[in-house]
Amino acid sequence: MKGLILSGGKGTRMRPITHTAAKQLLPVANKPILFYGIEAMKAAGISELGIIVSPETGADVESTVGHGERWDIHIEYIQQDEPLGLAHAVKTAHSFLGDEPFVMYLGDNLIKDAVAPLVERFANSKADAFILLKEVPNPSSFGVAHLNSDGRIICLEEKPAHPKSNLALVGVYLFNKNIHKAIDEIKPSKRGELEITDAIQRLVDTKHHVDSHILTSWWLDTGKKDDMLEANRVVLDEMTDVSNHGVIDSNTRISGRVHIGHGTKISGCTVRGPAVIGENCTLEHSYVGPFTSIGDGAYVSYAEIEHSILRENCRILDFHGRVEDSLIGVNVELTRSNRKPIAYRLMLGDDSKVEVV
Ligand code: DAU
Repeated sequence: MKGLILSGGKGTRMRPITHTAAKQLLPVANKPILFYGIEAMKAAGISELGIIVSPETGADVESTVGHGERWDIHIEYIQQDEPLGLAHAVKTAHSFLGDEPFVMYLGDNLIKDAVAPLVERFANSKADAFILLKEVPNPSSFGVAHLNSDGRIICLEEKPAHPKSNLALVGVYLFNKNIHKAIDEIKPSKRGELEITDAIQRLVDTKHHVDSHILTSWWLDTGKKDDMLEANRVVLDEMTDVSNHGVIDSNTRISGRVHIGHGTKISGCTVRGPAVIGENCTLEHSYVGPFTSIGDGAYVSYAEIEHSILRENCRILDFHGRVEDSLIGVNVELTRSNRKPIAYRLMLGDDSKVEVV
């Protein structure tokens, strides 16, 4: 079985952050989202992985991920010249996939459940496709499945205005070679994309067997800022790698599960976990609250940070204020001269400079 991870697309919903970076490389608990999918594939015994990339972000993805050495697997890059849909991405990857069955994982999705049991169930079934579903409060934002009382799929629709159920299609799919023929038989949707949802519907219409499973554990689609913060919250909440490799002074109080990277110095701070602080950071006279990730090389002084993601090398200096529910890009500099206590909710792209006066 092969693996296909979709890391193309334009990431428009995450701008300005994605003006300079692929959304699939944004960190959750200081690890690129994409790595979670790769690691789930590796744990499922998949050692040949194709990653779909766009011309804009392909080089960035390739230099961050590499060719699989880190996980002892083989990774190939497949360029999709335009984001013409998830089924178009599969079409673009056809020569890599050949006639082998494969797991397709959307590079901006995270699921708690392991992929290994799904692979096993698919391999032992006679199904042509196996999809995961999850009950959601906002089905119109997703592909939606309508099942009959026996749990068989009646129909699938992509982002319907009037959804027939609250069961969203999760971004992890298993297919055999019959998906390629189904993709050849569908037409672009109203939004101009070749939808994988329509290709699966085509399998249903042509009497192929589509199996489904309703997830009860968490699933996160990190399309927008708040989804990223939620993903960060959920992953930090379950973080098990809790160790302190930094230098902490005696005026610092650390409570809860906090991971601190090598070369990091913390003085006069309060840090409440779950939180992760990267390598070579400096934190002075600050409060770092729960569900916060601070990237490598960050410098924070006289600030309160909570429920936020700070990317690498950002500097929040002499801030005397609170940053919460925020996603702050690489190399951002945030300073403030007025000392009235105020809270800020921010989404700042890489290299931003903000001075609050
Ligand atoms: O997250 C689950 C949802 O993902 C499903 O419920 C929908 O049925 C499915 O169509 C998809 O919807 P999205 O609108 O969320 O897909 P998005 O455009 O965000 O793309 C998902 C991933 O695939 C993302 O990592 C970008 C990548 N991609 C997307 C397109 C359109 C590609 O690699 N190539 C593409 O052409």
